[in-house]
Amino acid sequence: MSLLPVLSAVEIAADRVLLRKARATDRDGLIELQTDPQVWTHIAAPRTREDAEQRLDRIGGPANTTATPGHFIVADKITDTMLGTFEIKRRPADWPGHVVDGGGELELGYLMRRETWGAGLAFEAATAALQATAAELPDQPVLIVTRTANKRSLDLAARLRFETVSTFEWFDTDQTLLLASLHSFKA
Ligand SMILES: CC(C)(COP(=O)(O)OP(=O)(O)OC[C@H]1O[C@@H](n2cnc3c(N)ncnc32)[C@H](O)[C@@H]1OP(=O)(O)O)[C@@H](O)C(=O)NCCC(=O)NCCS
Repeated sequence: MSLLPVLSAVEIAADRVLLRKARATDRDGLIELQTDPQVWTHIAAPRTREDAEQRLDRIGGPANTTATPGHFIVADKITDTMLGTFEIKRRPADWPGHVVDGGGELELGYLMRRETWGAGLAFEAATAALQATAAELPDQPVLIVTRTANKRSLDLAARLRFETVSTFEWFDTDQTLLLASLHSFKA
């Protein structure tokens, strides 16, 4: 586990969305997110409903899905409906895809429920999360790693002004490594 600092904020507000920690009422949304084949098309096999339910129970319920600093639920700011999950974590050194010796760079990850796509909500959540991180931490690289076939994810990265550094093979698929400087997001 990396000891490098991540974002300590537990709530980040944007125009239409709120990044917050998970609660029991997010259970159905989390299960839908984990089991929707469209969400997982470019990541891995979706979980079965039974597996997703059991996993949530095993870790002690929805709240524990975001217990780690830098992990959030994206919620609708008005209705509080769970729209997706976001994380700003440290990319493990023993995974491929790095821009500094020793790895551990900040890395942005996102999963949004299918019905939310195409409205700019992921862009809004990402911008708010990166701005909050830039306000807390010194300037440093931030990565996005996504399958090269994941056009929506690459489009989001481009809208956030991440630039492609390289591509590499991982789990038999072509991955794209994208980079931005954290302080380019300073508000
Ligand atoms: C990747 C993902 C988060 C992108 O979501 P998204 O909604 O397409 O991304 P954005 O928030 O940037 O929204 C962009 C779209 O909203 C539109 N839009 C509407 N209003 C907008 C606004 N106010 N601001 C920005 N974009 C807006 C854009 O025109 C664009 O439309 P298009 O998709 O028709 O081109 C989503 O597809 C997803 O969760 N995929 C599954 C999980 C996944 O693959 N994660 C990556 C793993 S590495």
